[in-house]
Parts: sequence; C-alpha cells; structure tokens
Amino acid sequence: MLRDDSYRRGIIVFLIVLISLAHYRTREDLLYLHVIYREMYFLPVVLAGFWFGLRGGLLASLAVTCAYLPFVFLSADRFTGHEFGNLLEIMLYFAVGLLVGRMRDQEIRRQEQQRQMASLAAMGKGISCIAHDMKTPLTAIGGFARQLRRRIPDDDSDAAKKLELIIGQADRLELMIMDMLAFARPLRLDRRRGDLNDLIRQTVEVAAGPASAAGIRIELELDERLPSILFDRNRLQQALLNLIGNGVEASAAGSRVVVRSALHAGEDRVVVEVLDRGRGVDEQEMDRICTPFMTTKKDGTGLGLAIVSKIVQAHGGSLRYRRREERGMLFAVALPWRGAGEAAPVAAPAAGTGPEEERDG
Ligand SMILES: Nc1ncnc2c1ncn2[C@@H]1O[C@H](COP(=O)(O)OP(=O)(O)OP(=O)(O)O)[C@@H](O)[C@H]1O
Ligand SMILES: [Mg+2]
Repeated sequence: MLRDDSYRRGIIVFLIVLISLAHYRTREDLLYLHVIYREMYFLPVVLAGFWFGLRGGLLASLAVTCAYLPFVFLSADRFTGHEFGNLLEIMLYFAVGLLVGRMRDQEIRRQEQQRQMASLAAMGKGISCIAHDMKTPLTAIGGFARQLRRRIPDDDSDAAKKLELIIGQADRLELMIMDMLAFARPLRLDRRRGDLNDLIRQTVEVAAGPASAAGIRIELELDERLPSILFDRNRLQQALLNLIGNGVEASAAGSRVVVRSALHAGEDRVVVEVLDRGRGVDEQEMDRICTPFMTTKKDGTGLGLAIVSKIVQAHGGSLRYRRREERGMLFAVALPWRGAGEAAPVAAPAAGTGPEEERDG
C-alpha cells in the first residue's frame, strides 16, 4: 500500500515536471503547443484527486500552479493576451482537484460505512444466537437459586450469602443478555405522538434513585416550548437512561448531571442533552466509545452507547457528543419534529466519526 502510494506520488511529480519542462523548453510563440500543455496539467491534478482524495487534489493543483505561474510571468510579452485564460485555468485546476478529491473521499467514506455495517450486522447475528442460547439456562439458575434462598431462614448463614451472590451475578448476566439482544435484534419502533419533556421527567425520576445512592443529583432544564413529536416511549427512555447512567457513573459524589431539552427551530430538531462534570473520555477513545463492547468499566458491557445510537438513528435522529471545557462530557440526542422522519430500518449502529470537537455516534 505504502509502496503503491510512493509509486503514485512519483507518477504525479513526474507528470508535473515533464509538462512544465515542455512549457519552458518550447518556443514561446508556439502558442497552440502551450495551450495543449496547459490542458495536460489536468492529468496530474485528476490523478492526485482520484488517488489521494481532497488533500491530494488540492496539493497537486498548488504544485501545478507553482510550476506554471513563473512561465506565465516570464513569457509576459507573448502570453499577456491570455492573462484571463491563464487565471481561469488555474482556478479550474483547483476546482477539478477539489471536485475529484471530494468525490473520492466520499466514496471511501461510503465504502467504509458499508464495511462497518456489514461487520456489525454479522456481529449482531452471532451475538443474538449466543445471547439467546444463554438466556434459558441463566433464567433457570437465577430461578432455582431464588427458590433455594427462600428455604433458608437464616440470613447470616454461609449458604444464604453464597446463594445471594449467585442471584446477584445471575441478575447481572441477565441484564447483559438483554443488552446484547437489544443491540443485536432489529428495532421495531412503536411511535406515538407525545410530550418529550414528560418522558424526560419520568426518566429522571427512574434514574434519580440509583444516582442519589451514589451521591449525585440529576437536574432538569427543560424548554417548555417543545412541540409534541413522534417517538417510541420505551426505547427513548432506554436511550436516555443509558446516557444518564453513563453520566452518573463518570461523576464523583457530590456532583450533578444535567438533562436539558431545547428546540432547534432552524433545524427542525428537538435536542435532549445530558451533561456531566465527570472524568470525561480520553482523546484517543473519543471515536471508539460508540463501538459495541468498547468499555472502560469493570462491570460494563460496552453496549450502552451502541444501543443509544441504534435507537436514535431508528427515530431518524442523531447522537453527538463532545468533551466539555474544563471537564466532563456532553451527549446530545437530536430528533426530527416536523414530519418526524421515517424510521430507517437499522441493523446496527455505525461507530462514531466526526469533526475534532464534536463526534457523531
Ligand atoms: N458521560 C461519560 N463520561 C465519561 N466516559 C463516558 C461517558 N459516557 C460513556 N463513556 C465512556 O464510553 C464507554 C462506553 O460507554 P457505554 O455506555 O457504551 O458502555 P459502558 O457504560 O461501559 O457499559 P454498559 O454496557 O453497561 O453501558 C464507557 O465505558 C466510558 O469509558
Ligand atoms: Mg453505559
């Protein structure tokens, strides 16, 4: 690959040098030859855009301009009548470099997305089979352990403690399996028109118990102008609980997690934001946190954000996140409210990519 790239770079440089030499070594009054050479500069520009994307296309246009401009100035006597043509040509080099480069970049992104979707779909299938097979024996283990525990009257006995441990671990595994199934199975939304603020209030009530046990307050900042929108109550609640849960888990006792709603009228979107002042995400992990099974927690499954992405995308919305100034994270779920976008059949979410300061999930 690297050898291929150097080989291609060599071809582009060779072409630019060759065409420039032809320009400089051809008598200036042979105008038609110079016009042909000038058009030939498009060849390295197009090749660079095609092989190296936007950056390559623009760099080649710049190199061509640098190689060609001195000739234009040196031969000012004979070429002055063509000043406008030369300027236009230089602008065209950049336009073509930009266009071909952008098309190439978009194509590469599309292929990468397709590859990711295919591998996530395959992963989803595998997970679904494993989780399904694990569910029945695990329910039996938890059920029998509970039955046995009820028959032991002495709470302090060794057997009772061990059984409680088994029950606790079986519950945890069952939750993990539910997460795995939620991630792997196709989402079928049951969307009804409703008040998003209402859902947020209810969700925060559910999350407030475990949060206050960890010494964390959840605060609401709701925009009462939100229009009613179409959404699946249970799914969206699941998504918000995951985001709030992450905020709480990342925060130190005594801090607060804020849940905010806002209407982005210009964009036809309502936005729910979850903000915390927790430990945040390391820069090198920023692009990976929505990848399934990526976790930095001892007890985490790493499916929380993957599920959030999937739910939000199924609503026709988007999940974005960024590090906050000073410390902490901001996660923003944007949902369409006008026409409430058609639900796309989502097999699995894509991993986060995006601009430096704000990423998509
Ligand atoms: N608000 C946050 N602050 C700091 N790190 C976060 C936050 N939200 C997510 N992360 C990071 O992203 C990782 C992935 O989050 P995700 O919710 O997908 O999985 P998890 O929380 O580790 O496990 P679970 O499946 O139980 O949710 C986390 O392990 C954590 O490192
Ligand atoms: Mg989580």
